[in-house]
Amino acid sequence: MTLTVLFCVDPLHPRRVDPHFAREAAAVRDHYGEMALIDHDALRRGDVDAAIRAVPEDLGPAWYRGWMMTSPEYAVLAAALKQRGTILLTHPEDYQRAHELPGWHDTFAGLTPHSVWRPVDPRGDPGDLAELVRPLSPGPAVVKDYVKSRKHEWEQACFVPDVRNLTQLRSVVAKMIALQDDFLAGGIVVREYERFDGAGEARVWWVDGEPALVGPHPDNPEVETEPEYEAVAPAVRSLGCRFITTDMARREDGQWRVVEVGDGQVSDLPATVDPMDLYAHLPIPD
Ligand SMILES: Nc1ncnc2c1ncn2[C@@H]1O[C@H](COP(=O)(O)OP(=O)(O)OP(=O)(O)O)[C@@H](O)[C@H]1O
Ligand SMILES: [Mg+2]
Repeated sequence: MTLTVLFCVDPLHPRRVDPHFAREAAAVRDHYGEMALIDHDALRRGDVDAAIRAVPEDLGPAWYRGWMMTSPEYAVLAAALKQRGTILLTHPEDYQRAHELPGWHDTFAGLTPHSVWRPVDPRGDPGDLAELVRPLSPGPAVVKDYVKSRKHEWEQACFVPDVRNLTQLRSVVAKMIALQDDFLAGGIVVREYERFDGAGEARVWWVDGEPALVGPHPDNPEVETEPEYEAVAPAVRSLGCRFITTDMARREDGQWRVVEVGDGQVSDLPATVDPMDLYAHLPIPD
C-alpha cells in the first residue's frame, strides 16, 4: 500500500494543489505516495459531488491535508468518499473530537485551562452567561468558539479582564459572535486565562499516540522551544484519534500547558518545518 493524501485544489488552477500545500504535496510525491485533489470551495457551498469529482474511484484509505472544514462538512465528505471507494483514515467522530474544544477538553483536564461552553447559533442568543461561567475561577478569561478565537481583536472580542463582570463578559461574547458571523463554530467557549511566559507556542504532532514532530506554532514560526509533552501523551492516547496536534505554551510558573488540541489534517504546518519530517511518520495502511 502507498501513502495517499487528499489535498485542496488551487481555486485558480483546477489541476494544481493549492499553493499553500504545494510543499507538502511535493513531499508526498518524493515519498512515493499518491495524492488526489478536493475542491474545498465546492464542499463549503454544499456541493460534495463537485468537491470530490477529481478523486479517482477506489483510491483506498487516505489522509486529508488541507483547509479546516466544519465537523458536519467533514462527515459529508467522508460519506461521499466512502461511496467512491476512499476511506478517510480519521473517522468523522474523531475529527470532531479533536477539532472542537468540547470534544477534547475533559480528556485534557488538568493540562489545559479550565473551560465552559454552550452551543449557540450564529444569530442566536448566548443565554445566561452568569450561570455558564459559574464553575470558572474569578479573574480574567478568554472567549472563543468551539474551534477559533478572535485573537486579533483581543480587547474587543477575546479577552475578558474579569469574568465576574457580566457587562464586560456579555460585550466580548457578543462581539466574538458577531465577528465570527456565519463561521461561528458550534457555540461559545469561556476559558480561565493563564499567564504564559511569552516565548511562543510549540505545536506537537501526534500520530497513533506517539509524538511524530515537535515544531513551532504558525504564529511564531521561527521560535524553537522544547515543550515537555510527556505528561500529555496519556491524554492524547485516551482521546483515541489517530492524527492530532497539541499546541503548548509554558506558563509563568514553568508548567507546560496545552493551549489547544487540533485535528492533524487541518493544523497548519509552518514553512519553517520540512514536510518530510511529518509525512515520514504518517502510517501507510496495510
Ligand atoms: N486560556 C488562555 N490563557 C491565556 N492565553 C490564552 C488562553 N487561550 C488562548 N490564549 C491566547 O490566545 C491565543 C489564541 O487562542 P487559541 O489558540 O485557543 O485560538 P485560535 O484562534 O484557535 O488560534 P490558532 O488556531 O491560530 O492557534 C493563544 O495562542 C494564546 O496566546
Ligand atoms: Mg491556537
